[in-house]
Amino acid sequence: MYECLRQRFRQIMAAKQFLSTVKYVAGTKPVFLLSEIAAYLDDPLTVGQMYAALQPHLAGFGLSALKTGEDYTISRPQQSPLYTLNTAEEKRLAAYLSLGSMPSVLEDAIEQYITRKTGKDWSDPIILERLRHAIVAQKDDYWKPADKRSLQYTKGYAVLGYLAYHFPVYFMQARYLFAQLARDGLLKRDMTVLDLGTGPGVMPLALEDFWRCLDNARATVSSIERSKENIEAFGALARSIATPDPQVTIEPPKEADITSPGDVLLPDRIDLMIFSNVLNELAGLPLAKRADLVMTYAERLAPDGTILIIEPAEEVTSTGLRAMSLALKKRGLSIYAPCTFVWGTNCTPDRCWSFQTAPSIRPTRIMNTLASCNEPFRYVNTDIKYSYVMLRKDGKVRTSCNIPKEMKALRLSKVHLNVGKRITVVAAKMSEDLGDKETHIFRLCDGSAEKPVYAMLPAFHIMPSNRELGIAPYGTILEIRNVLVRYNPDHDAYNLFVSRDTMVIPLVK
Ligand SMILES: C[S@@+](CC[C@H](N)C(=O)[O-])C[C@H]1O[C@@H](n2cnc3c(N)ncnc32)[C@H](O)[C@@H]1O
Repeated sequence: MYECLRQRFRQIMAAKQFLSTVKYVAGTKPVFLLSEIAAYLDDPLTVGQMYAALQPHLAGFGLSALKTGEDYTISRPQQSPLYTLNTAEEKRLAAYLSLGSMPSVLEDAIEQYITRKTGKDWSDPIILERLRHAIVAQKDDYWKPADKRSLQYTKGYAVLGYLAYHFPVYFMQARYLFAQLARDGLLKRDMTVLDLGTGPGVMPLALEDFWRCLDNARATVSSIERSKENIEAFGALARSIATPDPQVTIEPPKEADITSPGDVLLPDRIDLMIFSNVLNELAGLPLAKRADLVMTYAERLAPDGTILIIEPAEEVTSTGLRAMSLALKKRGLSIYAPCTFVWGTNCTPDRCWSFQTAPSIRPTRIMNTLASCNEPFRYVNTDIKYSYVMLRKDGKVRTSCNIPKEMKALRLSKVHLNVGKRITVVAAKMSEDLGDKETHIFRLCDGSAEKPVYAMLPAFHIMPSNRELGIAPYGTILEIRNVLVRYNPDHDAYNLFVSRDTMVIPLVK
């Protein structure tokens, strides 16, 4: 037993010594062979052992390894420059975002794929009925608690239903997220992307489409997916829309379970890592284990890379995403967007239901055809509503907010002490309008509140001095002066009543 412990201790110390030696040598030489490190070590390691120990840290150290015979050449790859949009690209992007439909070539490809898989035209009444059945079953499943769901995508119709109902809206919503990354200068001229739980390739295909707005950007997208049916659909769609000399290289998806990918070969130095609508499906893993899983993948993230997690806007998954974001923040990642921690505190995410919206898409031909039945609303999915978080390793945040000393702003964690009083707060607008024509309601967050806080703006109180509350985009930090605090016992929440005397000033966008 003692000998065993001693040996384990020696192994840990040897690994530590090895890693610090690699760091040291990499600081003195731009290129070296891994075998050169052996000479510096007290306990000899083989090249294979050294590679196994180094591989998970390559991206974190900013290094890459190239197999060279029995050895590995270690070097510091040239960083691809960040990509800045030019004026023509910005205009193109604005026009692109105003399009309400999927590219027709993709819509055709989905129809052709359904036709080929079923052996009948996609608009055949039998096929439509089966698609309807698959869509309803998938939606019913979705509302069950995560551990009671049976979403496996192993059956053909589950994937065909997904293509008909979910794919179009997720494909279109991806545009807004890529646009945010592009406008914020987080894209690179040559990017490595990894999409985990890629399904039928929604994100890689959306990325390929989006990159056409960019003059000189290129990307390579790898992905992991466990369902063969999804991989087949992804391959067929990618082939159908392939163009000669594409800006984006879509690697064939790797069939694996993201919770235990085994020896699946994944890129190092990933610039953008995407978990789109997948983490909530890992029902067997508690939050802490899911956060650990993301952190394991984060080891492969380039030092200036971004992790993008997207979940449906539905309350449970959306709130779960906020809890996940905080767990990842506590593990050392920084939340780049959408949250701003105005007072530098950690938040209480348990009741944080916050999502972004965008204009609805135009229904596809399949949706319209499916809808010619008694319950048309069940088969048309056009609303874009999503919860997302962007995380970084380098501490970068989208908006930081320094509150001037002279500003007498109250933390939202203190509103309960000020019920019935008029106060000033600095907080981010974290929802679109949740109210109606008579009273506009917006969720507020400064990262400190323990209970939800909303700004309520009755329509007849809208004035030039407070209308920014309605106009400001999701995530904008607002100073809200002279607002009345009320407690809402029905929702155990606080409402800040905005009146004609209230001033709303955007501080940082
Ligand atoms: C809701 S779909 C999302 C697909 C795509 N990312 C999107 O946003 O449309 C979830 C996908 O994750 C896959 N998935 C779920 N758990 C997985 C796991 N443990 N390993 C690999 N893939 C998984 C499913 O097979 C499915 O294709």
